[in-house]
Amino acid sequence: MERPATSIHGQWTTRWAFVLAATGSAVGLGNIWKFPYIAGENGGGAFVLVYLLCIACIGLPVMMAEVMIGRRGRQNPVNALATLAKEELAHPSWKYLGWSGIAAGIFILSYYSVIAGQAMAYVFRAFSGVFEGVTPDGAQSIYDALSGDPERLLAWHTIFMIITMTVVARGVQHGLEKSVRFLMPALFALLLLLVGYAANTGEYFNQAVSFLFTPDFSKLTSEGVLIAMGHAFFTLSLGMGAIMVYGSYLSQDASITKVSISISIMDTLVAVLAGLAIFPLVFANGMEPGAGPGLIFVTMPIAFGHIAGGQFFGGLFFVLLVFAAWSSAISLIEPAAAWLVENKDISRRRACVLIGGTVWTIGLLTVFSFNIGQTWTLFGKTAFDLFDFLTANIMLPLGGLFIAIFAGWFMKQSSTTEELAIQQPIFYYGWRILIRYITPTAIVIVFLKGLMDAFGL
Ligand code: TRP
Repeated sequence: MERPATSIHGQWTTRWAFVLAATGSAVGLGNIWKFPYIAGENGGGAFVLVYLLCIACIGLPVMMAEVMIGRRGRQNPVNALATLAKEELAHPSWKYLGWSGIAAGIFILSYYSVIAGQAMAYVFRAFSGVFEGVTPDGAQSIYDALSGDPERLLAWHTIFMIITMTVVARGVQHGLEKSVRFLMPALFALLLLLVGYAANTGEYFNQAVSFLFTPDFSKLTSEGVLIAMGHAFFTLSLGMGAIMVYGSYLSQDASITKVSISISIMDTLVAVLAGLAIFPLVFANGMEPGAGPGLIFVTMPIAFGHIAGGQFFGGLFFVLLVFAAWSSAISLIEPAAAWLVENKDISRRRACVLIGGTVWTIGLLTVFSFNIGQTWTLFGKTAFDLFDFLTANIMLPLGGLFIAIFAGWFMKQSSTTEELAIQQPIFYYGWRILIRYITPTAIVIVFLKGLMDAFGL
């Protein structure tokens, strides 16, 4: 199999467009919705510290490996891995790593879309002024009314899937480049505004800062460490080929190290800002940091209900959150779409209908897990919890582990040197030591200990 010089789906117009798109993929519900609630559930500081360590020692090297494999393979993850495995004289079954990534993307999107749907519903609630002067209890019951209503969740889930598939059908580069250029900076500005508001709460702000940044390891379990590591993969969109497929559209002259560092920094900043915007309100209103997936939908309305122009800014916040979710969602199925188009000779549009229909159907389980299906559990977890756990804490870490092993042990040193084209040897060898030894060891240890803890073994 010969390695194409460019992807048949075209290329990003500039390296900056890749950074934007990959940042668009990375920054999403993971940063603003998920990070605060899992940090809250796992005791704060120590969890955050482990998460930051995982970003630096696991996320960054794996991201470089993914972009490298994608750009060198120039096809969807399955074919890219098959091509490179052949070139490196490795076993052809490496392509199954691409397959498991495609499956993970489909599972993640199935629940991601339901949460993004809730954010869409909140756009209308915010703009219509229902948060005006809202109390913590009031905000909670607005959220309960939404998540408790299967019909509404289903309708929003359907709408979100349709808009996601529309962009993917048009081709990621055209659909995406333009929107991300403007939306990312706007989201950033609005988060800063919210942190500014939260900073006004004085002592509660300090309490939030110490909650997030003073590690207390007695509050962290092995399962918590696994969740932190899983989230490092999730938030950077790693371990399933999303960044790999975006890398396949990257031009040959871009520095993989630089783009990976910028994406990781921006992504981490957004998560930290979201935490700083949310936790002061949690403490100021006597709420529970470990309240779970509804956290942002209950705290943010309180903020917007009490600031000048809150109706407008609140609406805008949820609009931007929906866009952030949207630019992430498309990357979750781009590997599947690219695979269908490259191997099955069907149009992008038909590929999208097929994949979208599958994801939508699986998503029904998550829709019901918040209401009529709350009691349908396995290992004490609802369908939503199960999908989340299976993907973020099992599939992504394993995907990342095998990507690291492939890049570190199965690709020849000359190939990775050539593709990464890092000028300073110390950085190249730093990456190589991480990806060969440190990253895989850390993943295996955290993974095994965390699973044993999670299932009480
Ligand atoms: N990173 C996104 C977020 O934080 C979610 C996401 C998009 C993702 N693509 C991915 C997660 C691929 C894992 C793998 O919201």
